[in-house]
Amino acid sequence: MPAVSPTLLAVLTIGVVALILGILIEFTQNRYSGRDDPIISRINEGVSTERLRENLKFLSSEPHLVGSNRDKELADYIRDRFVEYGLDRAYLVPYNVLLSYSNTSHPNKVSIFDARSGRVLFESKHREENETIFPNIVDSYNSFAPKADVIGEPNYAKIDLKGKICIVRYGKIFRGNKCENAAQRGCVAVILYSDPLEIAREGTQQENVYPNSWWMNGKAMQRGNLRTSMGDALTQGFPALVDGAFQYGINDIELPKIPTQPIGYEDMYAILNLMGGLPVPNTTAFRDWNGGLNITYRLGPGFGSANAEKKLRVVVNNVMQTKIIYNVIGILEGSVEADRYVILGNHRDAWGLGAMDASSGTTALLEVSRLFGGFHRDSQWRPRRTLVFASWSGEELGLIGSTEWVEEHIHLLSQKAVAYINVDTCIMGPNLNPDASPSLMEILREVTEYIPFRNNTLLNAWTEYQEYISGELDKPKIKTLGSGTDHAPFAFFAGIPAINIEFTFDKKKYPISGSYPAYHTAYETFDLVDKFIDPEFSLHKTCSQLIGVLLHAISGSTLMPFKINELANRVQTDYENMWRRDRNEDQFVSKSDFINGEFKPLIDMLEKSIENFVIAAKDWDSKMRDLDLNNPFLVRQVNDVMLAVERAFITPEGLHQRPEIRNLLYAPFKYNKYSTVVFPGMLDLMKTISNTQRADTLKVPQFNQTLRRHISDIAIALRSATNLLNTSPL
Ligand SMILES: *[C@@H]1O[C@H](CO)[C@@H](O)[C@H](O)[C@H]1NC(C)=O
Ligand SMILES: *[C@@H]1O[C@H](CO)[C@@H](O)[C@H](O)[C@H]1NC(C)=O
Ligand SMILES: *[C@@H]1O[C@H](CO)[C@@H](O)[C@H](O)[C@H]1NC(C)=O
Ligand SMILES: *[C@@H]1O[C@H](CO)[C@@H](O)[C@H](O)[C@H]1NC(C)=O
Ligand SMILES: *[C@@H]1O[C@H](CO)[C@@H](O)[C@H](O)[C@H]1NC(C)=O
Ligand SMILES: *[C@@H]1O[C@H](CO)[C@@H](O)[C@H](O)[C@H]1NC(C)=O
Repeated sequence: MPAVSPTLLAVLTIGVVALILGILIEFTQNRYSGRDDPIISRINEGVSTERLRENLKFLSSEPHLVGSNRDKELADYIRDRFVEYGLDRAYLVPYNVLLSYSNTSHPNKVSIFDARSGRVLFESKHREENETIFPNIVDSYNSFAPKADVIGEPNYAKIDLKGKICIVRYGKIFRGNKCENAAQRGCVAVILYSDPLEIAREGTQQENVYPNSWWMNGKAMQRGNLRTSMGDALTQGFPALVDGAFQYGINDIELPKIPTQPIGYEDMYAILNLMGGLPVPNTTAFRDWNGGLNITYRLGPGFGSANAEKKLRVVVNNVMQTKIIYNVIGILEGSVEADRYVILGNHRDAWGLGAMDASSGTTALLEVSRLFGGFHRDSQWRPRRTLVFASWSGEELGLIGSTEWVEEHIHLLSQKAVAYINVDTCIMGPNLNPDASPSLMEILREVTEYIPFRNNTLLNAWTEYQEYISGELDKPKIKTLGSGTDHAPFAFFAGIPAINIEFTFDKKKYPISGSYPAYHTAYETFDLVDKFIDPEFSLHKTCSQLIGVLLHAISGSTLMPFKINELANRVQTDYENMWRRDRNEDQFVSKSDFINGEFKPLIDMLEKSIENFVIAAKDWDSKMRDLDLNNPFLVRQVNDVMLAVERAFITPEGLHQRPEIRNLLYAPFKYNKYSTVVFPGMLDLMKTISNTQRADTLKVPQFNQTLRRHISDIAIALRSATNLLNTSPL
């Protein structure tokens, strides 16, 4: 990042000069309006499906796992494109971080053997078929699973897990949380697999699966990371600078505790087919425990009495290694507010060929940078605020590149970053499915009106899809941000509002409990995308148009297009819904359990603070409409208030036992990194208290006190935000 920070006086001068020159004529409305904005037509018209296709083909022509030579080659390639396209500058940013790989000479294995003779009866495969077609893709493993060799009995139940090798299906929650739960309940190893119900819903025969459809054969294995915290494990909370920054030792840090290995459903069939115990009961508690394999799913423990001499063995040979990884940063400086940053990021590293995750986003990132670079190079155009284009590495092993960069630039970003837009796997299907910080939801809805989609606007297509899913015709509802991708350090550590853009498959037709079938397998190929996901590359085009227009809308509008009113209302609604959540899901408390006794005064304080924030935000919004946009100094002050409101919810010490999650308002729930909840620290502690009440009554008073303090902290943050709004120059 450049260290450009002109004084307010300089900004004022530039602003006035710019006004005189009429450079700002495009954006003299109070709210952003793209209707007559020539840049928007240039973005919409400029995106080239041929380039998107060619770049995707190139990016996914070889595996590019983090830390590999190819990952570095692609970093150089992207830097060179950023420069060639006309950005002001582009450079690599190295970090020295802890990585975890499979051992190429000693692959991980799950086997069944006869305990009397020692004879091996079955051994799992460590990679998908067709090595000549998919060469050099890393063997199946879960990063940061410890090296170990464990023998035991399998179990597929929820109870009696102690000492067992636990069989766990992918889906619903983050795999790292599954393994943490398994370790806490005493499992000695975990075997993960994707059931045909998730990845082969139309049959497992050759004609129903890839390369004949987007579904997966029984050899497909979902690789994936297990660490539940983000960033480099040896430098948690500070950047892993290459020139000698302090690092903790391997023994000082928390890593996953039990060996874990992902296998395909064909291999899992061999294990489940021998399983003893009762068939999975048809009760609510075991809803979804039956799967799509041609067997009776049994709970275990152990293989049936006919197979009592058989044992299961899990061998994990993973190796940890510190290596240098590279982010790529490209900069196009702003004309008026060069010291305000709007960032577009995508990760470059992939488990295999990565044609979807995340090269579908990388090809879009390249296309958008080409357009903006071209506007600058061809007509000296510049955005109002500085644009930052980022290609992260190490996302797949725990959002490492993005987190280290945010940690390195935390002070600059806290004060000067306006918004972060993330694009990971952009295209899984034709349906827009974004997540966003509430204050950015309105601008996201608005720009979709300017994006053509088939014979329609993207807004209309999005609205129709939501109606199809929910049966309600309404303006599109947007989820708040979950984790599992690179917006996390921006939104949850730094407090920068963010948007994550993704297009998904038909979730009603395919109610898959997880991601798309090829996710993290060797079959995530260019051919898969070209044949089944987006043959015309028209969806990749829509994705590029959307992120381009969003970037322009947020960086170009005089008044930052933040909707503080929507933020406040969303917090209030989500808070009310929090008490109504399904107890069976990940839930644990009713309001009446908590509202009485020691928590009553704090809940009252919290609710009062939410109400006052809602009132102040509404008032703010109505005053914003009358703001004199010709007074750049005033505009800058108002924008700064909105930045500060977002940062008011950052607590320096982080949530309880999660120092990297500092956002009091929205973050994933501790027990499922993929989820999104309001007041995450409060939910974490409530869940911890209800877990602890069963196990360790001595610790409960201490957690209750921590929770009282935490609710008070949220209320105080809400009051600070309210105060910022009420004492502003408006
Ligand atoms: C792979 O495993 C073998 C056998 O345990 C060991 O000798 C070798 O050092 C390992 N490779 C790495 C890179 O650690
Ligand atoms: C693997 O190769 C065989 C022989 O070429 C082919 O029939 C099969 O479809 C391939 N499988 C996949 C998943 O590509
Ligand atoms: C059952 O499914 C497994 C895994 O797909 C397959 O290997 C096996 O041949 C199937 N058995 C029958 C009888 O269809
Ligand atoms: C399971 O139970 C549900 C509701 O009780 C019933 O509708 C369904 O047919 C049952 N399924 C099986 C396989 O018995
Ligand atoms: C778009 O409209 C044209 C002409 O009305 C029609 O032929 C075409 O099928 C439509 N395409 C889609 C995707 O709806
Ligand atoms: C802690 O809070 C829970 C929830 O209100 C309550 O049930 C429990 O009795 C409290 N425990 C102690 C020791 O105060």
